[in-house]
Amino acid sequence: MTLIPELTILQPADKEQIDLPHTSEEELAVGKKRLYIESYGCQMNFADSEIVAAVMRNAGFATTSSAEDADLIFLNTCAIRDNAEQKVRNRLKHLTGLKRQKPELLVGMLGCMAERLKTKLLEEEKVVDIVAGPDAYRDIPKLVEEAESGQKAVNVFLSREETYADISPIRLNSNGVTAFISIMRGCDNMCSFCVVPFTRGRERSRDPHSIVREAQDLFDRGYREVTLLGQNVDSYKWNDELRMMNDAQQSDQTNSSLDFAGLLEMVAQIHPDLRVRFSTSHPKDITDDVLHTMARYDNICNYIHLPAQSGNSRVLKLMNRTYDRPWYMDKIRSIRRILGNDCGISTDMISGFCTETEEEHQESLSLMDFVRYDYAYMFAYSERPGTLAAKKYADDIPEDVKKRRLNEIIAKQLEHSAERNQRHIGQVQRVLIEGTSKRSEDFLCGRNDQNKMVVFPKGEYQKGQYVNVLVTECTSATLRGEVI
Ligand code: SAH
Ligand code: SF4
Ligand code: F3S
Repeated sequence: MTLIPELTILQPADKEQIDLPHTSEEELAVGKKRLYIESYGCQMNFADSEIVAAVMRNAGFATTSSAEDADLIFLNTCAIRDNAEQKVRNRLKHLTGLKRQKPELLVGMLGCMAERLKTKLLEEEKVVDIVAGPDAYRDIPKLVEEAESGQKAVNVFLSREETYADISPIRLNSNGVTAFISIMRGCDNMCSFCVVPFTRGRERSRDPHSIVREAQDLFDRGYREVTLLGQNVDSYKWNDELRMMNDAQQSDQTNSSLDFAGLLEMVAQIHPDLRVRFSTSHPKDITDDVLHTMARYDNICNYIHLPAQSGNSRVLKLMNRTYDRPWYMDKIRSIRRILGNDCGISTDMISGFCTETEEEHQESLSLMDFVRYDYAYMFAYSERPGTLAAKKYADDIPEDVKKRRLNEIIAKQLEHSAERNQRHIGQVQRVLIEGTSKRSEDFLCGRNDQNKMVVFPKGEYQKGQYVNVLVTECTSATLRGEVI
């Protein structure tokens, strides 16, 4: 899953943020209780907040974009690295001040940090009234009621079935053009460094019909791009037969099973003007079938986020990634063979994992040289309590060494991003306009097929339109040009 992390590097979305109109729901707020939601972590959490907003609207709450105006504040939290949790703890200090001025204010902790710490959070952070894990969001109105009556309220039950398939999300801070759709939840991989399997539970896929319905509805409302989200989208699996047995229903539909390539195709067929993206692909699971499907449909974007984590086979084994360096390189070759050199590829990299030697770190750098990624999300290893790595291996690389290795990875990526952006100069790129450039009212911005932010003079164009932009210059983060 692509992160919206504490340390975001070279992610065009952050360099060129677009205008975020207040949600129309705010207008409905008169006389209603107001909810303010703040999201941390990955896109999955941002998508979940939109489900929470929908659940709360049914319970009579309106959303607001101001914490100061709210009767109820939710922090949808991330636990992926220690600094992600520290950030939330600092925010809670601020909310303690707010609550002193407004004692009836309720504060809820949702998401992965809530799931990880459970009732311990209530002991450690007195300002918190409600704790709800990622599978407990239907229960939140009840938890709020309990909290209103003066009790602390907790639900951190993890489900094997919950996908919130029937809940139509309320798009928060939306640009009205691009949206996330969760296609699955949880993760069954046990990467040794990772807390996600513990905070989000077992992997389960969402009913494809509800996914297509959601995408179609977005398209009908003027959205032009959907990103299908899952921790490992390539292991998406849906079996109609199973579902019908579960429902004990009669149906004349064929009993077939659907994989990610099939789902991708169903969504791509909604309309040629609806762009389809997805994240995250796992190197062990991505299939040629998915790559061929991408090649067949112009509206499936030519961009794959394929986190390597390390370029060394021994470290990958300790990480329990279940692929090695040659396997990963083969996947890159398949992408280049089927989709060409034009396909954008990005990665996640971790520096200083347990016992990583200097030579092994060099192999991460040489893998990057081999692939030449368009972007990378890069992190220093942060030990997470309860994970396999925390139990089995010493976190033995000193912080300064982790940082230095991380800086080398970042420097390498800066070079490659610049090089990968430069190749677009002189090319005409199809751009979906997302809004006004953050830096200037006179410029618009949007992404090309490979997920790169492109900035160009406004002219008569509007968000939601596709335009052809001749790229004339670039930085390591953004392309610039003019509509032709
Ligand atoms: N499902 C995705 C990753 C989700 S977490 C995948 O398999 O690729 C996003 C990224 O955070 C990971 O890819 C990893 O690079 C990073 N990450 C996860 N746990 C970490 C830890 N303990 N320390 C540092 N980085 C971590
Ligand atoms: Fe974490 Fe690995 Fe699952 Fe990604 S695939 S969420 S890194 S356990
Ligand atoms: Fe996402 Fe952070 Fe949870 S990365 S899955 S919000 S631990």
